[in-house]
Amino acid sequence: MEKQLELEIYKQEIADLYTGRSQTYDNSNWHLQIAHRLVEHGQVSSGQYILDIATGTGHVAIFAAQLVGAEGKIIGIDISSGMLEQARYKAEKLNLKNIEFQLSDAEILNFADNSFDRIFCSSAFIWMSNLIAALRLWHNCLKPGGIIGIHAFADTAFVGGVITQKVAQKYGISFLMSKPTGTFEKCQNLLQQAGFEAIDIKVEQEGS
Ligand SMILES: C[S@@+](CC[C@H](N)C(=O)[O-])C[C@H]1O[C@@H](n2cnc3c(N)ncnc32)[C@H](O)[C@@H]1O
Repeated sequence: MEKQLELEIYKQEIADLYTGRSQTYDNSNWHLQIAHRLVEHGQVSSGQYILDIATGTGHVAIFAAQLVGAEGKIIGIDISSGMLEQARYKAEKLNLKNIEFQLSDAEILNFADNSFDRIFCSSAFIWMSNLIAALRLWHNCLKPGGIIGIHAFADTAFVGGVITQKVAQKYGISFLMSKPTGTFEKCQNLLQQAGFEAIDIKVEQEGS
């Protein structure tokens, strides 16, 4: 049996939220399409060793596993056991032998420095408690010349969210949603503060 994680309340709530959603998460193609775009930008090729952070049901990991082939390997990590269960089931059904899914917190990694050719994080970066510390940690795990690909939603991505933010603000409640990563400049600043040098931010319209 997989070792359970000891998580602080905030992270346990996230894990429970996603475990609760895990059976229906793949009903929509929305996250899948975003994950595939991210991998396409990441110049994935045969034989690479790749880390998929907050892999969920494995959208990035499974696509990348098909691209790296038998010579490569993907590690997908997540704090939600339910999401990982779905990811493992899908990988098994596709007979992918080059993926391993681990129950692990993306902010406490145990990989050696300079381990991965590529590190991805799709639709999950905003959940990290300390964005800059997380980026620094992931940067350490990347091989020199490697690429980290992160997808983040714009400030204005969700109409409901924008309205809720404004109402919450009126009552003095902090409700950040995608705010810390929601513009080109914010992403650039975060990445620079974390020590990244060659930064390439692509803005794409996804939905309305
Ligand atoms: C919106 S889902 C994205 C899943 C997947 N990357 C995708 O593209 O569909 C967010 C995921 O982040 C995971 N997550 C949130 N915080 C995490 C953390 N600190 N460490 C690992 N996974 C985390 C959640 O459990 C959830 O599976």
